[in-house]
This record gives sequence, C-alpha cells and structure tokens, in this order.
Amino acid sequence: DRGEYPHYMLKEIYEQPETLANAMRGRLEADNATAHFGGLNLSAQQLRQVDRVIMTACGTSYHAAMVGEYLLEELARVPVEVEYASEFRYRNPPLDRSSVVLALTQSGETADTLAALRESKRMGHTTLAICNAVGSSIAREADGGVYLHAGPEIGVASTKAFTSQVCVLTMLALYLGRTRHLSSTQGQRIIDDLHALPETVRKTLACHDHVKRVAEKYAHAKNVLYLGRQYLYPVALEGALKLKEISYIHAEGYPAAEMKHGPIALVDESTPSVFLVPRGNVFDKVMSNMQEIKARGGPVIAVAGAGDREVAALADDVIPIPDVPEYLQPIVTAIPLQLLAYEIALLCGCDVDKPRNLAKSVTVE
Ligand code: F6R
Repeated sequence: DRGEYPHYMLKEIYEQPETLANAMRGRLEADNATAHFGGLNLSAQQLRQVDRVIMTACGTSYHAAMVGEYLLEELARVPVEVEYASEFRYRNPPLDRSSVVLALTQSGETADTLAALRESKRMGHTTLAICNAVGSSIAREADGGVYLHAGPEIGVASTKAFTSQVCVLTMLALYLGRTRHLSSTQGQRIIDDLHALPETVRKTLACHDHVKRVAEKYAHAKNVLYLGRQYLYPVALEGALKLKEISYIHAEGYPAAEMKHGPIALVDESTPSVFLVPRGNVFDKVMSNMQEIKARGGPVIAVAGAGDREVAALADDVIPIPDVPEYLQPIVTAIPLQLLAYEIALLCGCDVDKPRNLAKSVTVE
C-alpha cells in the first residue's frame, strides 16, 4: 500500500530512516563494540581466516558491493574484489581456500547472481548472501547470510535496498574489523555513528525542496554526469543509473578525476554535472575537479554539507546534506540522488514505478 505517497518509489525513499533502523536492530553490540549476525553460519575463527572477499551482484546491488569494497578494505583491512555476476559466472578465477564469495541481491532471484553463487558453491567456496527477500532462492542456497529486513521493495528502481545493503556492509566491516585490528574505541565510535544514522537520514530527506528546484532547472538535459571519488564513486554510478532507468535521460557516473582522461570532452553549457562533495579526505581534490568542469562552462550541481560556503561559491546549485563521517557518506549522498531521479522523471512524464523495458527482478540470463 502506497498510503499517502503518489508512487512506491517515493514511499520507499521516505522509508529509509526506518529500513536502516530495521537493518541494524539487534545487530550492534555495544559491550564488545562490534556487530553480530544470526545467520552467517561462520564462527569467529572461520571469519578470522577469511583473507579475501569476492562480492558479486548486478545493477544497484553491484554499486552497493563497490561501496562495500571501500568499507571492508578501510575498516577491516580485508582485500575485496567486486565483479558483475554476469561476468563472474563465466570466469574461472583462481580463488584460494580462504576466499569467501558474497552475493548481494534485493530480490534473491536475479538469474546471473544465482548462477554465480551456484558456480562458487560447486567450486567448494563458502558463500554468503546479503539479501532482502526472505526465503528467496539465493537466501536459501547460500551457506549463510544477512537479511536486510527492508520490507518489500515495489518500485522497479531500487532505493531503500541500496542504503540497507550499504548499512549491512558497514556492520560487516565493523565485525570483521573487530576480529582484526579495529580497537574497541574505534568500534564504539562506529556504533554511535550508526545509532544516529536513522535520524541523520530523516534530516537528509529535508533536502527534497532543494532537489525539486534543481530538477526543474535541469529536467530538459539530454546528458547528465555524476562525479565522486573514493566512497562516493560508486554512489555517482548509482545516481546515474537511477536517472537513466526512470527518466530515460542519458547519464554517466565517473570517478571525478577520470574526467580529464576523455569524458570532459562531453562538457558544455547544456551538460550538467552532479558532484558529490561533502567534507572529507579528498574534498580539495574534488573541488579542483569541479573547477575543471566550471572552466569548460559546465553547470555544476553540488551535493555538499549544509552551509559549506566554499562549495556554494563555486557550484551553480547546492543540495545540502548533514555532515557525517566519510564511511557513512554513501548512504547520505545516495538519498538526494534518488530524489533527483524521481523528480526529473516526474517532470519528464515518466512512469517512475514501472519504467519501460524493465522488470523488478531479472530472472533470465
Ligand atoms: C536498479 C535495479 C536493478 C537491480 C538489479 C539487481 O534500480 O533495480 O539494477 O539492482 O537487477 O537486482 P537484485 O538486487 O534483486 O539482485
């Protein structure tokens, strides 16, 4: 039931404070400054021995996995590889015994992801799934896993599943990190940040009015670029995917510094760039990438900390978000991009919940 919302997609975007709280419920352990999961079916000793994680997924879930790569490497110092399930299933990658294959999927029924999981099992690897749909094929066939508890996602464009996947990956990184080098003080700080996250996301949704104004200004664009670095590079890809699939406007996500290696040739007055530029390690670098776009006459929309004057002085439009630690920025920056795609699709007269040519779950190869 959509309730008061005109579309499932909007309802699901607005549910995120609750779906994130549901993803965390009962999983954060303040006493040991760690997280735990009921269904991983791996002991702490087994997890300690994991020295490589292969993540495999499609579409939006693949973008969540890419964020997971940064999270697990940064917080847990575990090497991670991410691969499209459709590619992974036909490769013959040399994996050693201590690699774990982790499939990410909202529906649990995506044919390519299921095939990648089966192929990994056949080779004798331990498989895990991060999945939303309870009792789905992938949830049943994986050796262990974590449910998102995000509730049914009806809108074809995935929104709340993405943020919940990233949230679960953050908790997984905390858990793995605490079996390795992460101190209890660091673990406790992550737990405190995670506890505050639902409220932070509620505040983030207040950017919706800004997003509407930006949407009106740029809904006529034929091409849109999405740019971010580090944790926010996958979010740029995700923002571009959201816009493409529901508004049929061509969009590309790039790591901001790659622009100068070719794609910057696309920039002109009619090609807006959406920059993800909250404060963090690479802030100055992203700002100079933004300069490069401005210098070529490209309009810049910045998703940035509320009240960041340096960004406001350079960007044509700012979508303000709350300040959060870097590892939580993927969740917080994804929200305005979901809203932007939604608002632009509405202005273009598209059916946001049922975009053309797409199905909610892709059960064919
Ligand atoms: C994008 C979208 C798709 C899915 C992809 C994987 O909004 O919904 O790209 O993310 O088909 O689906 P799941 O996560 O169900 O395996």
